[in-house]
Amino acid sequence: MADYTYTPQPDRGADASVLAYLITTVGVLLLMMTLGLLMRLEQAQYISIGPQWFYELLTLHGAGMVGITGIAGAAIMWHFLRQYVDLSRGIFIANLVLFLVGVGMILVGVLFGHFHGAWTFLYPLPAKSMGLWSQGAAALFMGGLLLIGVGFLLLYLDVARAITVRYGNFSRALGWPQLFGHDDGKAPPPTVVASAMVTIVQVTGLVIGASILTMMLVNLYVPAFTIDPLLAKSMIYLFGHIFINATIYMAAIAVYEILPRYTQRPWKSGKVFLASWTASTLMVIIIFPHHLLMDFSFPTWFLVTGQVISYLNTFPILVVTGYGALLIVHRSGIRWDMASRFLFISLFGWGAGAMPAFIDGTISVNFVMHNTLWVPGHFHTYLLLGMVAMVFGFMYYLVKPNQNAPDHFIDRAAFWGFVTGVLGFILTFLYSGTESVPRRYAVHLPQWVPYDRVGVLFVILIIASSLVFILRFLTGLRRAGREYPRASLALAQARQT
Ligand code: HEM
Repeated sequence: MADYTYTPQPDRGADASVLAYLITTVGVLLLMMTLGLLMRLEQAQYISIGPQWFYELLTLHGAGMVGITGIAGAAIMWHFLRQYVDLSRGIFIANLVLFLVGVGMILVGVLFGHFHGAWTFLYPLPAKSMGLWSQGAAALFMGGLLLIGVGFLLLYLDVARAITVRYGNFSRALGWPQLFGHDDGKAPPPTVVASAMVTIVQVTGLVIGASILTMMLVNLYVPAFTIDPLLAKSMIYLFGHIFINATIYMAAIAVYEILPRYTQRPWKSGKVFLASWTASTLMVIIIFPHHLLMDFSFPTWFLVTGQVISYLNTFPILVVTGYGALLIVHRSGIRWDMASRFLFISLFGWGAGAMPAFIDGTISVNFVMHNTLWVPGHFHTYLLLGMVAMVFGFMYYLVKPNQNAPDHFIDRAAFWGFVTGVLGFILTFLYSGTESVPRRYAVHLPQWVPYDRVGVLFVILIIASSLVFILRFLTGLRRAGREYPRASLALAQARQT
């Protein structure tokens, strides 16, 4: 296997723009976690903010968390991909600016305009508020989402440009010559393969998402312009599902890049690795019907596709990443610190979170479970203990003073606090799901409240631990910005081959 699937040089420090992304991430993450706590406190009947506030917080939390994981994932992808291809810093910054403007519009639309139609803005709800919010509030919310989507689209188009300049086309970036022909060991590194896949699926999803948002904005002001509700729902879920999935595929690049640096072993782009990413490129785009299994008016073949693809797509990337991590860590003498711990546990969180989705993807189970807290149980597992854990791992990696610096006891305690907190929190969701507690209910029946109250304790543990990670990152920022080996050795090596 060629050396260039692996970049062994030290990679300390990050570009200021990456740090700006991460600072935005920790600010929004903390705020959204607090909104999550407020919702859980309301369901537990510890506070009484009322249904309207609950749904406003739910709308902000859903949109905010999905958006901010997109920003964090993009920061990781850009930081590492830039070592292989020439990306535009201007476009990267423009995406952050558009994101912040979009967030501002969403905040005004929700907090002042009282829009609370959820981050899934299902047609025709935004236009039919029955007096609960104004046309302007719905327009600000959907316009904000559209602006954020446009920013991300620009970013991925730049990634597509840079990859095409370096590799000629996307089939080469996905390693198809090595996958379908003779493996000469010159497949692109995992970071490039993952970025190529994410770019393909995200451009597809974002164009479809922007189209439905635009149509719904027109419908808001020209009600005679109607949209087929099933088509609208399909477009929204296609876009939403791809976007949230892509966040973890981008964050997984931290695993591919950092664990090899710790173990001094290469992460190879072998045939199985390449096949998994290629298979998922297609499957992630067509998997969304598993959100629509209860919509009986869709054709049966469409729903069966949802079930079959859900089963199939649970495994490829997750298995090659998890197995790959075990292979390179096993007997490597790896030094366990906060970064490597987070990256390793993230694979467990990703895997554990996929299992409830696998079960829920079965049509007969879905009829009973889909509208229960089982589903938030699934996605909070893979997002908190998978995606967010990868982001915390990346942050610790950036601010580590030197290779041998020991972790503080507080950090280690916070790590285990976070893991325990997430496991406890998601188990209260999953258990409530098995008890048929519906999701998205502001008011819970008295017999559901005990689970909510236990959940609150674990949420406090998650937030307290996250505060430690965030403070450690913010206080180490100066270290994170130093010695950036700009597109250094790796780029030079990649160009030679
Ligand atoms: C401390 C951490 C968190 C807490 C306490 C929390 C809490 C909650 C609660 C209470 C709900 C509503 C559940 C329901 O009754 O349906 C919810 C929904 C949701 N959460 Fe979280 N959450 C946290 C972290 C996250 C993270 C990290 C993400 C994504 C990266 C996320 C994404 C979502 C989404 C997409 C929804 C669905 C919104 C909807 O149904 O419209 N959450 N969360």
